Amino acid sequence: MVYDIDMLRSFYSNFPKRVDAARKHVGRPLTLAEKILYAHLYNESDVRPFRRGEDYVNFRPDRVAMQDATAQMALLQFMNAGKSKSAVPATVHCDHLIQANMGAKTDIATATQSNSEVYDFLKSVSDKYGIGFWKPGAGIIHQVVLENYAFPGGMMVGTDSHTPNAGGLGMIAIGVGGADAVDVMTGMEWELKMPKLIGVKLTGSLSGWASPKDVILKLAGILTVKGGTNAIIEYFGPGAASLSATGKATICNMGAEVGATTSLFPFDTNMATYLRATGRDDVAEWATAVSDYLEADMDVRAQPDSFYDRVIVINLSELEPHINGPFTPDAATPISEFAAKVKENGWPRKMEVGLIGSCTNSSYQDLSRAASIARQAAEDKIPVEAPLIINPGSEQIRYTAERDGILGDFERIGATIMANACGPCIGQWKRHTDDNTRKNSIVTSFNRNFAKRADGNPNTHAFVASPELTLALTIAGDLCFNPLTDTLKTSDGREVKLKEPEGTDFPPKGFEVKDNGYVAPTGKEAGVAISPESDRLQALKPFAAWDGKDLIEMPLLLKAEGKCTTDHISMAGPWLRFRGHLENISDNMLMGAVNAFNGKTNSVLNQLNGKYEAVSAVAKQYKAKGISSIVVAEENYGEGSSREHAAMEPRFLNVKVILAKSFARIHETNLKKQGMLALTFADKDDYKKVREEDKISIIGLKEFAPGKPLTAILYHADGTEESFAVNHTYNELQIKWFKAGAALNAVR
Ligand code: F3S
Repeated sequence: MVYDIDMLRSFYSNFPKRVDAARKHVGRPLTLAEKILYAHLYNESDVRPFRRGEDYVNFRPDRVAMQDATAQMALLQFMNAGKSKSAVPATVHCDHLIQANMGAKTDIATATQSNSEVYDFLKSVSDKYGIGFWKPGAGIIHQVVLENYAFPGGMMVGTDSHTPNAGGLGMIAIGVGGADAVDVMTGMEWELKMPKLIGVKLTGSLSGWASPKDVILKLAGILTVKGGTNAIIEYFGPGAASLSATGKATICNMGAEVGATTSLFPFDTNMATYLRATGRDDVAEWATAVSDYLEADMDVRAQPDSFYDRVIVINLSELEPHINGPFTPDAATPISEFAAKVKENGWPRKMEVGLIGSCTNSSYQDLSRAASIARQAAEDKIPVEAPLIINPGSEQIRYTAERDGILGDFERIGATIMANACGPCIGQWKRHTDDNTRKNSIVTSFNRNFAKRADGNPNTHAFVASPELTLALTIAGDLCFNPLTDTLKTSDGREVKLKEPEGTDFPPKGFEVKDNGYVAPTGKEAGVAISPESDRLQALKPFAAWDGKDLIEMPLLLKAEGKCTTDHISMAGPWLRFRGHLENISDNMLMGAVNAFNGKTNSVLNQLNGKYEAVSAVAKQYKAKGISSIVVAEENYGEGSSREHAAMEPRFLNVKVILAKSFARIHETNLKKQGMLALTFADKDDYKKVREEDKISIIGLKEFAPGKPLTAILYHADGTEESFAVNHTYNELQIKWFKAGAALNAVR
């Protein structure tokens, strides 16, 4: 038993009361998303009608999941919070750091060795703080969560953008940065802007080659990559009930591709069956007992336009299989139009590799449907033109699929079975290719297809499709092949059409696994493994508390011009390696930001020696001399991801203030959590007054109070001075964080 049964029992006994209270206070019928959100308010007594898209609300999620790349900094911070145990059930999953190369066995052994210090650290911290640990090879975070932890009506956060996968079991599951996960694990309130709601009504039912993946591929075409921003996508209607739980999870998973906060489906018998098939009869029973509360109220379903901010209807009976791409997941094309598009755009027609797996499409149902096509290819002697790679979603699926001959079906047509891990989906793919410079096409059952994502090669045109369509195109080796209408030639010269895929939602003999890869925490006071010599991991020292003084004559480190996203502040790519080492990753600080004075990136004036040097190099020299510095920026500073490194790096390098025209909200909060000052120009034109050789003071901190502006004084090199008001959005609690040096210092 890996899930917390007592927590769930109490959850289901309280859920109806909390929903009833919310309905009374809001004074109207509720959607499912609203029921779950209101039932998870941090303060139960704070029920009132929150304005969607406007009000910030504090929530108390039920659980946390972290993947190995993001868990490192999350846990390093948690260790500083002075808690003995995570306040909510939490798990760590080792799935991102395994490179797909030779096949599962060899690759897991290689990864275990090359990442040993990271794995040992994650395991020892998990053990100490009561966090469940899923070792390398156990599976991909979201599949493992679906199989073990997701529950209808629940709310969780996960340090990965495809956390919404758990919406397939009716859960509000949101992808966050490590600092948010730490809030939840320390029992602090977790803040989210009340999301808007997009209702998607599904009618009809799928048949033939159409699969759940095609629902979201089509929807991505309708909404585009930004259409779901700050919204929850809530599915309903008779078509929703016809989909399997894992099919629903596929759809929710890829809601991340339209920018949605999360996606979810109402509870139904397919979910109950999945819960039972994965050993959770009690959860199925409890959820069934409150099933009226686990769907939108009747009036909402009858008149969706009155309750959702937008309603979209998709008829599953008319849905065509889609292929989306290249380079963006919202470029949606129905299969019947795809060949023409390939020719029209000059996309490389030869299909070079087919990849089936990722958290999106690696369930038993996905593999069994694709395997039915593989079987036909083997039986009819249809040559398979492109290499095939399979990543099962979890060890439970892999073991069961092997037992049931499904993996054998793939291997018979030449497939390589890779580890139960992310692999090629996150660029962890040692692709074997003869020429990296050739434009080439691959088709995957994954969710993202941005340039370079799978194999790091900008010449690769990646398309996303369902597993069954991916397999059909792999057999044909031709992007222009349409299995619904075209035939293939067998090795003895016959023309055959592929039969429609057939699969089962559940293994007829039930799921089976020998070692699911779970390591339960012992809670013992064992040591946490961080080697002082490590270049990948470094224990965090708490940031120093405020010294009670104003910030006087800080040299300007950088005046950034134009866009400054979290990628500009803390780049990803090769820097991923240092996600657990604040000092080493700080070397990338602001290296992508453009210096307003010379138009260059990573080249700023060092006021100590008059030379132009890298931003982090200058900041380090200031820090070594005990000098604080300040960064000035334009609009929406810190937009992009919730990556806490973008706030921690400046803090680490003694930058005390970010003074911007405006902030992206999540990043502004992250700065506050790390004890930084995030200030805005009261008059945006004052940005122009900042000169390259300025020293800047921030005055008024002794009277730092909500709503009360501070003062900035610019000391120019020519001896003149200018001063102006700067604003902030700190509340009482956030001022406490500033004074304590960081939010974690304040909770300790
Ligand atoms: Fe892993 Fe790709 Fe999903 S990186 S968590 S399989 S989106």
